[in-house]
Amino acid sequence: MVEFLKWSDDYLIGDIQIDTHHKLFFDMVKDISRFLENDSADVNLAAIVDFLHQYVEMHFRVEEEIMMEIAYPDVDKHKDIHKGFSNQIAQLREQLESQENTPTLDDIFTITQNWFLQHILTEDKQLTKYL
Ligand SMILES: [Fe+2]
Repeated sequence: MVEFLKWSDDYLIGDIQIDTHHKLFFDMVKDISRFLENDSADVNLAAIVDFLHQYVEMHFRVEEEIMMEIAYPDVDKHKDIHKGFSNQIAQLREQLESQENTPTLDDIFTITQNWFLQHILTEDKQLTKYL
């Protein structure tokens, strides 16, 4: 049984752009959990990973610009964490393209769920007090 959280406004950090992006990410993880729950066979993994790639490129740029504007003290550490996740997504794309160690939908769910819980709800939440 795959379960993912219900959306809560407690997840908001207080910036409309960042929060809109985070909700989009949440909805994507929720969709993946539903695909898994329903044993959907015709899920296009490459499309999900492409979406993730475009999402991180766009979202990290915006979030990092906002961190600079508000003089967030942990900006360098936070950027490194973003870089690590971008690399992880790039690796998923390569694996799908080369068809070697191809990730499963379960793998993508675990990776994105962990990112939501450990990054968005934890590290991004630290920005709240500077906004
Ligand atoms: Fe972040």
